[in-house]
Amino acid sequence: MNYNDITRYRNQRFRTGPESLKLEAGDMPPPETVTPTRHLRGGGNLYSRYKLAVIPGDGIGPEIVNQGLKVLDRVGQIYGHKFEYSTLLAGGCAIDVTGEPLPNETIEVCKKSDAVILGAVGGHKWDTLPGHLRPEKALLGLRGQLGLFANLRPAVIYKELIDACPLKPEIIGDSIDIMVVRELTGGIYFGERGRRMGKMGQEAFDTETYSVGEVERIARIAFEIANKRKKKVTSIDKANILESSRLWREVVTDVSKDYPAISLDHLYVDNAAMQLIRDPRQFDVIVTSNMFGDILSDEASMITGSIGMLPSASLGEDNFGLYEPIHGSAPDIAGQDKANPIATVLSIAMLLRYTLHLENEANAVENAVNKVLEEGYRTGDIMSPGKTLVGTTKMGELIVEKLSKI
Ligand code: IPM
Ligand code: MG
Repeated sequence: MNYNDITRYRNQRFRTGPESLKLEAGDMPPPETVTPTRHLRGGGNLYSRYKLAVIPGDGIGPEIVNQGLKVLDRVGQIYGHKFEYSTLLAGGCAIDVTGEPLPNETIEVCKKSDAVILGAVGGHKWDTLPGHLRPEKALLGLRGQLGLFANLRPAVIYKELIDACPLKPEIIGDSIDIMVVRELTGGIYFGERGRRMGKMGQEAFDTETYSVGEVERIARIAFEIANKRKKKVTSIDKANILESSRLWREVVTDVSKDYPAISLDHLYVDNAAMQLIRDPRQFDVIVTSNMFGDILSDEASMITGSIGMLPSASLGEDNFGLYEPIHGSAPDIAGQDKANPIATVLSIAMLLRYTLHLENEANAVENAVNKVLEEGYRTGDIMSPGKTLVGTTKMGELIVEKLSKI
């Protein structure tokens, strides 16, 4: 098997040369160097200052992001950090104001920030616009132009919410805790596409392409994460059919040699979809391509039963990342103080952990969420008999109250 390139990339953790990205010039510029964290003196105290780009987006986006920022400000007070926010447009609201889903200014400011916080984009209002003007285009643009190649989607069942899981108790056991690592800037989402004449009339095509460098960098992320968890990686592909999957499997296997303490399995995607329902506890870290990851991460989130609880991180080079809840913009409940802000708050915890390397602060946020759940507070989406129903703002306030230094 010939993929000589791989040695070139070995040990250059999470870094990949432009030649492996196989991009057209100007199509997806590599991210600029991220502004380093500055340690400044403010009011006589030494504190860390972080610049964050904030994209509230559409629907419930602004309400849930507000709660997330409240929590982050409290973390700053407790631990002595200063978070500076630049609020930016993307999605439907950007179309309304500027005529395009992802204004250049948004990208430019994101590139100068340490990380990006995103609420949600999209809504019925913009559903009939042509493809290049749809709010979803903003998501793909952000991923591509910011080089966010690694999408981390944890699927976790909270002890307090175990009844919401649609699977039988004997299948769930004590809990489910899976980390889906989805490749996010390659494969069929970004491959060559078009229309042409075929034997049976006009035909359309989309292309799945993966390079050694692209697979290696996502595989390394998965192994590094598994190293801090149960030390098991399952790589999911369709190597019985697809050439791109065969390369994927070879490269993942090769990378695994650098991680002897981690066990590696390969599953075909159809089998994996079945296994997630049959025996989800067999999974620790799943690593897979852009499209398979899109589908399997929805399946994994559904088996937890609480989509309003699940955060995500999209990481690029040098710890740069975009953090967002996995749920959508829920226009039907927007502006009614009904949305669950917990997925956004937990996304903030991921930001603290993966971009800023503030592990204690991240744990403090997660603990605060657990305490609020233990005390029985619930938003409508996770409400059950005997619990206390609260709105978006109240839930944010409760989490802020429970925050304490670890
Ligand atoms: C996701 C979404 C997006 C995707 C859409 C909205 C472009 O489904 O983040 O999973 O397909 O990646
Ligand atoms: Mg999806």
